[in-house]
Amino acid sequence: MVIKVSKVCLVTGYSGMIAKEFVKDITKYGYECVIWDRKVIDIDIDNAINNYLNEVKPDLIVHFAYGRFEWSTLMALYAKNNNIKMVYISTVNVYGDNCNGNLDKESLCIPNDDYSRYKKTSEDKILGFNKNVYICRIGWQISGPEETHDNNMVEFMRREFRNNGVVKASISSYLSTSFTKDLTKEIARVIENMKPDIYLFNSNFSINFYDLLCKLNALYNLNVKIEAINDKYFDNRMYDNRVKVKNDFFK
Ligand SMILES: NC(=O)c1ccc[n+]([C@@H]2O[C@H](COP(=O)([O-])OP(=O)(O)OC[C@H]3O[C@@H](n4cnc5c(N)ncnc54)[C@H](OP(=O)(O)O)[C@@H]3O)[C@@H](O)[C@H]2O)c1
Repeated sequence: MVIKVSKVCLVTGYSGMIAKEFVKDITKYGYECVIWDRKVIDIDIDNAINNYLNEVKPDLIVHFAYGRFEWSTLMALYAKNNNIKMVYISTVNVYGDNCNGNLDKESLCIPNDDYSRYKKTSEDKILGFNKNVYICRIGWQISGPEETHDNNMVEFMRREFRNNGVVKASISSYLSTSFTKDLTKEIARVIENMKPDIYLFNSNFSINFYDLLCKLNALYNLNVKIEAINDKYFDNRMYDNRVKVKNDFFK
């Protein structure tokens, strides 16, 4: 099927592990992607940001990157003034590290470290400027062993094993997570088919962290040693019945 390229999607954070997967998926909906290069367009200068947005004239903005709040809010304002969609990629971490499961979009957020406070403040500021931005809260990402990005759960396993000779994993922890390839497909579908809101992306409704790492060890032949530990119950699994990220692996 040939799809006419007629829409422009502006993507930030392309050098991370998720945005490049997302670009492949949103392209299938007929978007041509423009990548925000921070070396060329300075995200610390308001005029530069506004001029660039007016030049690119995106039909969709998908914000994966970090950076100062004003960058995010200027994009949110542009989206509002030009009646286009904007998506902010957030995290399950906004709920904090004292979760007892069954998280939904109304659950209380108690961010308790710099990263989670930054992400929650970003969400709030963006929505303060434009209540029609899609907020996508996602779990810890899994990509194959070829992806050496720090945030990849597989890379975490290899790093722990390299540094400590063992990966300790709790049998009392249940984490929101997904394979990045499945996540980005679903984000693209949600953006194209649903109205703006907070959406929660998680594939794991069943297995504890120890079992999850053992399955990844086998899947990718990582040969890392994994030790089960039993510590405080922690459960940040998110539930959102509008969102269906592939989850066969986690059953
Ligand atoms: N990976 C995960 O497991 C995970 C889980 C939950 C949420 N998330 C969220 O998903 C988004 C993408 O994550 P990711 O793992 O693909 O990549 P990442 O390593 O978290 O970084 C995202 C991108 O942000 C840009 N960036 C880095 N430092 C910056 C700074 N000081 N100012 C402005 N931009 C900066 C970089 O892209 P450029 O150099 O191309 O601009 C970087 O690749 C992030 O917002 C993250 O919070 C990720």
